[in-house]
Amino acid sequence: MHEQGEPQESHNKIPKGWLLFFFGGIIFVIAYIVLYTPAISGWSFYKEFDKEMASAAKTEQSVAVKHYSGGKEAIKDGKEIFANTCAPCHNADATGGIGPNLTAATLKFGATQKDIYESIANGRPNGMPPFLQQVGSEKISKVTAFLESLRKK
Ligand code: HEC
Repeated sequence: MHEQGEPQESHNKIPKGWLLFFFGGIIFVIAYIVLYTPAISGWSFYKEFDKEMASAAKTEQSVAVKHYSGGKEAIKDGKEIFANTCAPCHNADATGGIGPNLTAATLKFGATQKDIYESIANGRPNGMPPFLQQVGSEKISKVTAFLESLRKK
């Protein structure tokens, strides 16, 4: 028997919930380390990043190439965008100024829909600014359609 007033250690059991949390936590940490350590699972941030970039690039290009080729509305919109954004350097009819003539028989960076789209989206080294951020892929596709309509004449 204990003396009254003497400090005693109590023998309450640890609550089940706490144990579950404790061991659950350990299992989670182990699983996490195994899954996300490149040397163990092969997972890598860089691989994930490359995958995402690849799929994003695919979407961008298919937007450019699919929808607007030849559509009258798109060409009309494209003409307007061109007048506002591109004409200061390429002239309203795209025959050139500070920038080259875009109706010329051949273009330095290529004249396929994809080439033209990339010239506009990413820019070109000698003074062509990139427009993807400012204008967006949909409008660039329309401008591309407009330029194609000029080039076909
Ligand atoms: C600040 C002036 C400027 C503006 C604004 C500009 N461009 Fe250009 N662009 C240039 C110059 C300069 C080049 C030549 C770049 C080179 O040779 O490296 C060029 C090149 C290009 C080319 C490639 C031509 C080739 O020969 O392959 C295309 C296509 C083009 N521009 C389209 C556009 C479109 C569409 C817009 C509007 C969204 C636009 N540009 C706005 C100056 C401009």
